[in-house]
Formats: sequence, structure tokens, C-alpha cells
Amino acid sequence: MTLNAPSPTPDADCGLCPRLKAYRDQNRAAHPDWFNAPVPCFGQESAELLIVGLAPGVTGANRTARPFTGDWAGDLLYATLDKFGLSSGTYGQHKDDGLQLVNTMITNAVRCVPPQNKPIGAEMNACRGFLKARLDSLPNLKIVLSLGKISHDNVLRANGQKLSQAKFAHGACHKIGDITLIDSYHCSRYNTNTRRLTPQMFEDVFALITQKLAQ
Ligand code: URA
Repeated sequence: MTLNAPSPTPDADCGLCPRLKAYRDQNRAAHPDWFNAPVPCFGQESAELLIVGLAPGVTGANRTARPFTGDWAGDLLYATLDKFGLSSGTYGQHKDDGLQLVNTMITNAVRCVPPQNKPIGAEMNACRGFLKARLDSLPNLKIVLSLGKISHDNVLRANGQKLSQAKFAHGACHKIGDITLIDSYHCSRYNTNTRRLTPQMFEDVFALITQKLAQ
């Protein structure tokens, strides 16, 4: 990253989204021991793979300060990363568990927890500069894995692409400039409970990713 490049990390008191700031303040008052701030990216600056989720879960990343850490979605994601050699150490559902990602970084399209897990359009627009800065500042980036359509749409927009240029579909690969965008259904509890996404389907996406990383 050059000296004056935009930061991929919002300030702890980022006020770009009034609704998210109000929710954060409410959570800070109710749970002063939680993180309650924009959740930073986790992983390696040298990563070839960037995984982009939706937004922190209120008792997950918003509490623990690490994407996907402390909620169901993280249990499946981190178990799958381990299976494919994309992490080392043991995932312990908290940020000081010593887990390291291998050739991978994880972030979210929206960095602050939204009420009901649903960011609105203006919040995605406001946060997109951080996603763009994240994408632009990984020198070895080859593959972006979007977890869910909202992540997919935000990655396209951050890259200046029209949504019509790449349709979201589970397991789809799209060539976007120098990177390959790969889609998966989000590994949320809802999607796994309804079997829209099974662990096998998720592993199939990671098999594709590791195959492409090895090319
Ligand atoms: N936790 C995150 O950090 N992101 C998600 O998309 C879901 C849970």
C-alpha cells in the first residue's frame, strides 16, 4: 500500500452510517465488554485469497473483534479453512486463540454490525471504500470468495463493474480484471439449517479455490 492510499480499516468511531453508529452505541452501553466497533480484516497481507462475508454478527465478530469468530457461520468457515490447509492452529471461537490464516484474508462487505443482520443500501455504499481499499491493497490477490449475493454485488461494485456483468450463483467463477470472483451461498445458520448450503457444497467451493490457487 502506498503512503496516502485509502485505509482498508475504518476508525473505531466511524460515523459514516448513522443507523449503525446508533446501534453500536446501544451495544456499547448494554455490553461494554464486547468489541462494538468496525471489525478489522483478519489474515495475511500477502494473501492470494480474500473471503468477503456480509457483516459482523452481533454476538459473533461484533463481540469478539474478528470476522466470523464466535458464531455458527464461523464454526463452518473455520472448520473448512482448516480442512483445506488455509489455516494453522485451532479455532477457539475467540480472537486470541492463536489461529493463523494461510494465504488467506477475511473481511466483510460492511464492517459494523447491522440490526437484524441486514445492512441497507446506503450503508453498503458508505462502507464500499474500505472494501475497495482492501481489494486494492493485497499485492498477490488472485481469488475473491464472496459469501452470498450481497457480498458478490459489493465486490463487483467496488471493482467498478455493473451487476449485470456477473450473475451470482453458488460455485460460479467470474473473471473480473486480474482476479477471479467465486461465489458461494453464505455459510449462515439459516442456509445450513435449510440445506441451501451443505458442508459438502461448501467444501466443493474450497476444492475449486485450492485447485485455482495451485494453477
Ligand atoms: N460473521 C461475519 O463476520 N460475517 C458474516 O457475514 C457473518 C458472520
